[in-house]
Amino acid sequence: MAPSSLKWALLCVALPWAQASPSASVLQSRDEAEAYSPPYYPTPKGGWISDWAEAYEKAHKLVSNMTLAEKVNLTTGTGIYMGPCAGQTGSALRLGIPQLCLHDGPLGVRNTDHATAFPPGITVGATFDKELMHRRGVGLGEEARGKGVNVLLGPSVGPLGRKPRGGRNWEGFGMDPSLQGVASALTIQGMQSTGAIACVKHLIGNEQEVHRMSLLGTQAYSSNIDDRTLHELYLWPFADSVKAGVGSVMISYNDVNRSSCSQNSKVINGLLKDELGFQGFVVTDWLAHISGVSSTLAGLDMSMPGDGGIPGNIPLLGHSVWGPELSRSILNGTVPLDRLNDMVTRIVATWYQMGQDQDYPLPNFSVNTEDAEGPLYPGALFSPTGVVNQFVDVQSDHNVTARAIARDAITLLKNQDNILPLRRNDSLKVFGSDAGPDPDGLNSCSDKGCNKGVLTMGWGSGSARLPSLVTPQEAIANISSHAEFFITDKFPSSITPNPNDIAIVFINSDSGENYITVEGNPGDRTKDGLYAWHKGDDLVKAAAAKFHSVVVVLHAVGPVLMEEWIDLAPVKAVLHAHLPGQEAGWSLTDILFGDSSPSGHLPYTIPRSESDYPSSVAIIQQPFGQIQDPFTEGLYIDYRHFQKANITPRFPFGFGLSYTTFNFSRPSLVPINPLDSEYPAPRSPKPDTIPIYPTDIPPAAEVAWPKHFNRIWRYLYPYLDNPAAAAKNSSNTYPYPEGYSTTPQPDPRAGGGEGGNPALWEVVFSVQVQVTNAGARKGRAVAQVYVELPASLGVDTPQLQLRQFEKTAVLAPGQSETLTMDLTRKDLSVWDVVAQDWKAPVNGDGVNVYVGESVADLRGRCTVGSGCSKL
Ligand code: NOJ
Repeated sequence: MAPSSLKWALLCVALPWAQASPSASVLQSRDEAEAYSPPYYPTPKGGWISDWAEAYEKAHKLVSNMTLAEKVNLTTGTGIYMGPCAGQTGSALRLGIPQLCLHDGPLGVRNTDHATAFPPGITVGATFDKELMHRRGVGLGEEARGKGVNVLLGPSVGPLGRKPRGGRNWEGFGMDPSLQGVASALTIQGMQSTGAIACVKHLIGNEQEVHRMSLLGTQAYSSNIDDRTLHELYLWPFADSVKAGVGSVMISYNDVNRSSCSQNSKVINGLLKDELGFQGFVVTDWLAHISGVSSTLAGLDMSMPGDGGIPGNIPLLGHSVWGPELSRSILNGTVPLDRLNDMVTRIVATWYQMGQDQDYPLPNFSVNTEDAEGPLYPGALFSPTGVVNQFVDVQSDHNVTARAIARDAITLLKNQDNILPLRRNDSLKVFGSDAGPDPDGLNSCSDKGCNKGVLTMGWGSGSARLPSLVTPQEAIANISSHAEFFITDKFPSSITPNPNDIAIVFINSDSGENYITVEGNPGDRTKDGLYAWHKGDDLVKAAAAKFHSVVVVLHAVGPVLMEEWIDLAPVKAVLHAHLPGQEAGWSLTDILFGDSSPSGHLPYTIPRSESDYPSSVAIIQQPFGQIQDPFTEGLYIDYRHFQKANITPRFPFGFGLSYTTFNFSRPSLVPINPLDSEYPAPRSPKPDTIPIYPTDIPPAAEVAWPKHFNRIWRYLYPYLDNPAAAAKNSSNTYPYPEGYSTTPQPDPRAGGGEGGNPALWEVVFSVQVQVTNAGARKGRAVAQVYVELPASLGVDTPQLQLRQFEKTAVLAPGQSETLTMDLTRKDLSVWDVVAQDWKAPVNGDGVNVYVGESVADLRGRCTVGSGCSKL
């Protein structure tokens, strides 16, 4: 529901006059985090974007021939554990549409065999390598297709990483909207080039795990986000994803501004479907579906896994707020038929858009068992059995991509006396369970819900089984015959090192999804905080007390505090290897022994103390009542905050050393398209291509149980016992949500294309910089472009914001490469909360563009209109 408040009403009333002359002071007046989510109805229909025209035309033809039961079937999952995938829809087999398999996840096909466990998003972000981002997307898509997954549930860009302890930040690409947006778009393009449908998630504000979900009497928290922050931070990567043509979007469990995301009309109808012009379909997160009609009217298109509406939301008996209830709401006229037609058209159009009508495989695996045969519907009491796992090997040569990502993400944080790279005959003593295998066996804990052995990924639905693993221990042993291993987290007191011995100490920090608690951490890192697990700090300090040279290797989901040991003289080197996925061992030795130089950069800030963050980004725990989580820090998360508060972190965002050094020279800023107006050129009206269907309510008989139908208990069907009675019950008593209307909203001025007004994506400046390898070893450099917007925009804006990046090829000593990075109008704009549009400084006047190796290491500056200089 979307209750409105007097405050919001007043603000909306202010809109028309303010629009005429937006001034700085008015522009900030709607920056308030306490608003209630306003109503936004009706749902904008899909079918007006030219890139989707053919798919919509085909969908229109097909949906025109569908019965009510077939339509409802495609919108509602068949129930939890009622098929091989995390969730599956019903089918419209008569018309050639099979059940659609929706399955995790963002780093590989979850819970199956012979599939690659790629490094997760955070590691991909640390590569700052666009080619690898795309290549991994292709690999993910190929594997999804090979297993028969229609919709692969990733990438994840929400959480954005507002809360450093947040459990699922590692599934996304880093704590910056542009980094997330670029990586998400490339992942989606890669995935969908194979025919798999990507599902970007979780829309929106899912920034902590604890109390994320309404379950068993607890209510999901409300992320209370002001309009500008929503646009400039949290919605930003979703806009990039829609621009990339993403086929589906998963809404999150939490509320936004006190309205649950699964029925938040402002979020789905307003932001996603109208402003961002999203053409695909919107699916719930699993069991996030809490209302029938309200969610339908708010713009939801698919319920997963279909169950819902039982007190406590426990999916025991096979009940759905859609399925038969959706059929009923159509027959009795509560939900307009054109809403259902749009839901189904969006789903079918997406299926056509990715070419899934052409020989797309059916699922050949089952998440429910590792055996070849098993129950087809394990959630039913009595289920028919059959072949469920065909063990199809979909890995191809994706290990090469996985290793390249894990290697090129490794971030060198310290390298005193150039102790790295190691020589092959160095005498090494290796400490820490994080260097070794899981003593209980590969994949001993389901969904990686334990921290044993080398940490390759976090836990939860964003994990995948490791098809194989070469541990750091094995990889080091393979290269060095001078290495001794102490795969324990307790430092062996008996050790007496020789002066030249080098200690390599492995430590880690884990987190994951809330349905599993690992060593006292319920998803978020509530118990261990930002400290290394398993007393990792003590292990490093003990090694530093005995060895002259210590190399620390860290595997971590996010920022880890290092203050207890980072400045100790023997701690000569620190390699942050993020979460390497299956290629943990080889990717590390590639760097340790110098076959490649480290080229990863931090996708977040590493602080000196957790108290350096704003207090508003702490995890909120509260046993009773709904948690209100006001995003009072606004735009100031991660490095934006550290800069504003003038706090020097331990390592800044974007930081990463190499075995060589790079000179940045000849920075230049070339104007491309003129930025000659504050606001983008007006959008075009929607073309007249939206499919039109008859509006007559279909015959009730279309959702009667078919004759001699063999029902499976708990399976969700679209049928009603007495459809004729449902049809007679008129809808005039239904308490429609406040603000509900069937009159289309005026086209939002910030909309007009996928991702928003196409004019926002016009390139306005092109940044170039020449990067030269100035050292003695080969290596790759990353150039990061930060923009500083002028005070003339009249709003408080973070000092520097990453907007683009590029990575060189491997450069030999002395070799140069010129990198080109484009800035769009949107990259230089702020969200004008009054005009409800993106506002840029005319001609870019006063804009400074920096290019550097981190947010704190800027090498070149260009001021629009007055040239560039080296810094
Ligand atoms: C819940 C998670 O939040 C979501 O990311 C995942 O895709 C679904 N479960 C399905 O496993």
